Amino acid sequence: MVSGRAPEIWIGEDGEALAREGVRRFVDVARRSIAARGRFVVALAGGNTPRRLYQLLSHVDSIDWSRVHVCFSDERMVAADSSDSNFKMAHDSLLGVVSIPPGQIHAIPTAMSVDEAALRYDQTLREILPKNEPRLDLALLGMGADGHTASIFPGSRLLAGVDDDFLLDDPETGPLRSDVPTPSLDSFSSERLCAPIYDAPKPPRERVTMTPYVLNLARQVIVLVAGDDKVAAVSAALESDARVAEIPIRAIAPATGELVWLLDRKAGRALGRPMR
Ligand code: 6PG
Repeated sequence: MVSGRAPEIWIGEDGEALAREGVRRFVDVARRSIAARGRFVVALAGGNTPRRLYQLLSHVDSIDWSRVHVCFSDERMVAADSSDSNFKMAHDSLLGVVSIPPGQIHAIPTAMSVDEAALRYDQTLREILPKNEPRLDLALLGMGADGHTASIFPGSRLLAGVDDDFLLDDPETGPLRSDVPTPSLDSFSSERLCAPIYDAPKPPRERVTMTPYVLNLARQVIVLVAGDDKVAAVSAALESDARVAEIPIRAIAPATGELVWLLDRKAGRALGRPMR
């Protein structure tokens, strides 16, 4: 795992407890960010796990939603009304309910090529992140049973931490890097904030994803994981020295931000830690 501070690990009884804890933390970060900087810039996770959290959040009125700017950690290249769309899931459970100004909801465009979408969204992120300190206030992430997060899958070039020509596990270039560089704001203008994915093993194959760089600049990252099928990946992520290219979530460790794992009992049962 990159330098970053040790993660906080919270284990709750079930998905409902996980969602409730996620809401509590989301509200806390949102209120602190708005108080400190007048806005809250949050990247929402895709997949199914966050759905209940979003549904509970939609009833929260203690956040000044007019100060909230929403982006997405990744998106599948499908129509916005597709049942596969991360935007649709978030819209149906949260964004279509709370009063965030429409101009502050930044969906990843999908009605174009994946390359063009990634270029556009990279630019969008540069426009919405505060100029003086371009960091997400919060990034919500899920994790697949293979340790992927957002649309960063095992073996992804995004994990090489080197330029596009780096060939993973190529005998000429030596072993995979065991980590990714600690991000610096100094290189913000030259770094990629998101990237096209052409070959995701989890369909659909084409996606746009935020990169480890922009996720690791976040002030806080919350990883939400639930279910028996994630046990092995949770242990590999938190209690092994697996390479980031094998367990991509291990590349997510905010350099100066907080990393929080929220697990249900099933996903966290191999960690041998007490439940909250
Ligand atoms: C996606 C997600 C992906 C997801 C994990 C976990 O677009 O698929 O961004 O990273 O978070 O696959 O998905 P579940 O929450 O459905 O298990």
